[in-house]
Amino acid sequence: MENAALIQTKDLVKIYPMGSHELVALNNVNLDFKKGEFAGLVGPSGSGKTTLLNIVGSLDSPTRGSAIVMGKKVEELSHKQAARLRNSHIGFIFQTFNLLPVYTVFENVEFPLLLLGFSPAERKRLVMEALDWVRLADRARSRPAQLSGGESQRVAIARAIVKKPAIILADEPTANLDAENSHNVLQIMEELNQETGTTFIFATHDEKVISYLRRKITLIDGRVVRDEVMTPERQPEAKAQAQAQAQAQAKPSPGRTEQAEETGGPGGTGTRGGSGGRR
Ligand SMILES: Nc1ncnc2c1ncn2[C@@H]1O[C@H](COP(=O)(O)OP(=O)(O)OP(=O)(O)O)[C@@H](O)[C@H]1O
Ligand SMILES: [Mg+2]
Repeated sequence: MENAALIQTKDLVKIYPMGSHELVALNNVNLDFKKGEFAGLVGPSGSGKTTLLNIVGSLDSPTRGSAIVMGKKVEELSHKQAARLRNSHIGFIFQTFNLLPVYTVFENVEFPLLLLGFSPAERKRLVMEALDWVRLADRARSRPAQLSGGESQRVAIARAIVKKPAIILADEPTANLDAENSHNVLQIMEELNQETGTTFIFATHDEKVISYLRRKITLIDGRVVRDEVMTPERQPEAKAQAQAQAQAQAKPSPGRTEQAEETGGPGGTGTRGGSGGRR
């Protein structure tokens, strides 16, 4: 069971009708993803990355073939069943964060839990645990407009992980972030993957994201043309290079460390999982 595929696509085809002709967005895609993968779909614009993530995320269904996610055939699910699969097992992270502006950080992260019937006390515990992961426990009462881009994406990560999904799908999660913030969110996602075994699948053009991947799948014109394991020798080297670049670009931010120590927020000083009373 440990090695069973969490996600499997079989001869997956997605065709969009375009007036008199058809646009083949995915062309016989056969892929397996196992628990704990940290994988990315790469390839030129229009190659089918988002289409594939949307089908695997049961937001869309295939024209032909099959996508089996946690034992369920996406193409056979009703709208309600697809929603249930997403709500219980899949977290999404998007390029544009998609936070609800009128709600606080806490409420944005709490939102997926409202659909799952948790008690208020349980919701508070889970939300604060998720905010601890992304080092934003001290911003629970802020609203999205008061956050930087990097902080906004960290809230979106917290929202994606709060229900402890098996799978996180991240479509261009760093596209609106500078290098420093990109590494911040990537390190958080890598840590989550390593400590919780959550499977991550990215769609990306970003070399910084690619430097963290342990598996890189290249799509061209809707076909998988390469599926590479990123070897441990190669990966840290690429990552170190990307980090050095980010550090060179990063502005010094005096006072930040002291503040982090005072609040116990950024830096996560072992409070993960037990911060229910900090709101
Ligand atoms: N709803 C739709 N209707 C018609 N065509 C679509 C639709 N969604 C996507 N396509 C087409 O399917 C192809 C694959 O699109 P997709 O968004 O998956 O590409 P992508 O690899 O994610 O590109 P990018 O890197 O620009 O995000 C493109 O040619 C696109 O125009
Ligand atoms: Mg896309």
